[in-house]
Amino acid sequence: MERLFVSRYGYFTADGREYVITTPLTPRPWGNVISNGDYGMMVSQTGSGYSWRGNAGQNRITRAFQDLVQDNWGKYFYIRDLESGAYWSATYKPTQHAYQAYQGVHGLGYSRFLQEVQGIRSALTVFVAPQDPVECFELRLTNLTDRPRSLDVTSYVEWLLGFAPDEHREFHKLFIDTSLAPELRALLARKYLWGFPDDLGRHNNIDWPYVAFMAASEPLKSYDGDKESFIGLYNSLEHPQAMREALLAGRTGRFGDAIAALQVAVDLAPDETRTLVFTLGAAEQGREEVADLIRRYTSPEACARTLEEVHAFWSRLVDAEHVETPDPALNLMTNYWLKYQAISCRLWGKSAFYQVSAGYGFRDQLQDSQIFLVCDPALAKKQILLHAAQQFVEGDVQHWWFSIREWGPRTNCSDDLLWLPFIVDAYLKETGDMSLLDEPVRYINGAPEPLYEHCKRALERAFSRFSPRGVPLMGDHDWNDGLNAVGTRLKGESFWVAEFLYAILEAFIPLAQQRGDERFAQRCAEVRETLRWAINRYGWDGEWFLQATTDEGLPLGSHENEEGKIFLMPNIWAVISGIADPERAQQAMAAVTRYLLRDYGTLLNYPAFTRPRSDIGYVTRYAPGLRENGGTYTHAATWSVWAYALLGDAERAYEAYRRICPPNRSADPDVYKAEPYVTPGNIDGPQSPYYGRGGWTWYTGSAQWLHRVVTHWILGIRPQPEGLLIDPLIPAAWEGFKVTRRFRGAVYQIEVRNPQHVSRGVASLEVDGRPLAGQVVPVFGDGQTHHVLVVLGQL
Ligand code: GLC
Repeated sequence: MERLFVSRYGYFTADGREYVITTPLTPRPWGNVISNGDYGMMVSQTGSGYSWRGNAGQNRITRAFQDLVQDNWGKYFYIRDLESGAYWSATYKPTQHAYQAYQGVHGLGYSRFLQEVQGIRSALTVFVAPQDPVECFELRLTNLTDRPRSLDVTSYVEWLLGFAPDEHREFHKLFIDTSLAPELRALLARKYLWGFPDDLGRHNNIDWPYVAFMAASEPLKSYDGDKESFIGLYNSLEHPQAMREALLAGRTGRFGDAIAALQVAVDLAPDETRTLVFTLGAAEQGREEVADLIRRYTSPEACARTLEEVHAFWSRLVDAEHVETPDPALNLMTNYWLKYQAISCRLWGKSAFYQVSAGYGFRDQLQDSQIFLVCDPALAKKQILLHAAQQFVEGDVQHWWFSIREWGPRTNCSDDLLWLPFIVDAYLKETGDMSLLDEPVRYINGAPEPLYEHCKRALERAFSRFSPRGVPLMGDHDWNDGLNAVGTRLKGESFWVAEFLYAILEAFIPLAQQRGDERFAQRCAEVRETLRWAINRYGWDGEWFLQATTDEGLPLGSHENEEGKIFLMPNIWAVISGIADPERAQQAMAAVTRYLLRDYGTLLNYPAFTRPRSDIGYVTRYAPGLRENGGTYTHAATWSVWAYALLGDAERAYEAYRRICPPNRSADPDVYKAEPYVTPGNIDGPQSPYYGRGGWTWYTGSAQWLHRVVTHWILGIRPQPEGLLIDPLIPAAWEGFKVTRRFRGAVYQIEVRNPQHVSRGVASLEVDGRPLAGQVVPVFGDGQTHHVLVVLGQL
């Protein structure tokens, strides 16, 4: 089988749907974040990771700490040879035993670990049931020797059950209760405290309303619910006491440090293979029955069936759109991994190795929800309505909120609220479903109103926060969270917010007009004009646009600054928003190219701050070159692709894309370090000693945007109110490309040919064999497949 992007750590399979890791010693944990929208788990190439239900921060099932160096918290399986007493684990951790063969495979919704140790082949497949809060471990053992082997297999997980991290462990463990359910071959765990106040505000006074379980498909040989007897005092998971004892200690109840260890016997004749299943999960009281969940999933047959369901579940989401270009990295990221990352991790799991989020970021998951627009717009709509309900009648929003019990901070952030109309516009263009605007949604402090009013209140709130010069105030910060001291006294300005607002108003004015809200449309048009004037008058620094002014009136992102001279955001959004005239747009992007477009993507600012600045914010406190301080902040770097594309600069748009497309870093994995199949939140900039190192993988808004800038601005397929615009801007070397995607109830099979090797310009367009004038393919909505043939070139 063909292997793609081979490095000394692994490769993609030929179809791009799996990444195969060939050694457990990758330069960082290379993981998988698997979620069904409710239950979730994470697993790295060493087999480490943890599980949660509903929320990885507020409702963790198993324990783990963020330790990317040791990567030593997990749900593990020990395999023991009863004849020799030797033992190892089905994954590299925790025993780190010498192996004859190792492979870790990450796929969409599952991971698989293959090992051969002492003549025993093990294949452990882990996944989450698509419809239930259950995680399955299918362990297939094969005897490769010519003598019978007598083994046992022992599971190990440590219960957390509630808020993570449970910093005061000695307190929290007092509330956990474990018990054996012999008829279910399972250990159960409850906790009599969650960490929330009760209805009368008495803190720590409610139950954790679940029963967690670990179950086995085979008769139990022995079990243990106590960490102390399992590991042994001052021992480790690498050499636990339990592996020196014939049987597990059988301790359960309320007085130990709670774990679930189940031991089952496995005898294997030469060449024989046997499959065992373990399940882990949490049943919510009053909603699911533990016994029912265990019985439905804890058998080899159920497990095989469930894995098929996992494949179908992800296929429905990712295969609704398929691209085929001459760039294999672009193909496999766009078709599978970016969608999977955005949905499984960002929207559903909300957790990863570098960040465990306990909530939704108002702007974060709203942007991410655009990933649903092609495959399942109803899910995007659901997300939009969820966010709209986190708004105050004053128009501002909770900057983030817990996804369980909803609490979150109210701030003076200047852009979060504006993402609501921005994303609503994307939804309307894709679906044409104007009824969204009529959906009644509550306010945190007010009665429901149609979504249109929510957008309007967000805009009105933004209009009320301008400086005397007509520039939006920075407030607590703008999109760049780390600028959190620039404008807290409500004097400093954000030129980027001016541009963002300008772009939003362009789309909102026609909506207001369609609804007969002429006065507001008029007001928006006036504000737009003010913004254009103000940014060109006060925001232009001579060669590029300023990012901001501080409360003291100092410029940020100016040639006058020694550090933070130029910022990416105000320069690319000057183009994206259309606020800059063509000449300044060119000049601003020339400055971006000169100072910011580097080998590993477009930097967020340059030069980085080397000293903390109490008048700017925590961005200046990061080490120079890291994250928002002079690194490639991937989320924003995706927008530089969009800006270059708008200028018609096909080669640079593609370059800006190529440099942040992860598989392309497979040639230097020890510099890059991060997983090649998901986007990192940041890549170190030139002022870091680790220039080019990727970090903060998985939990980043860049996944959805990298998908969107490719499909919309390189392949150039953009939904418009009246149809699907096809306006590619591709590297001239390409022969063409194909895209199949759904659009408003029909399938569009688009083939673009590029015989003259141009970058843009449609010479002819045919739909179902008939020529069509213009570049907008109409809405069919007939459930049929329509063939679109586009030839690029001169007419
Ligand atoms: C983080 C935040 C996001 C913010 C970005 C830039 O990713 O979650 O909301 O816009 O940082 O600071």
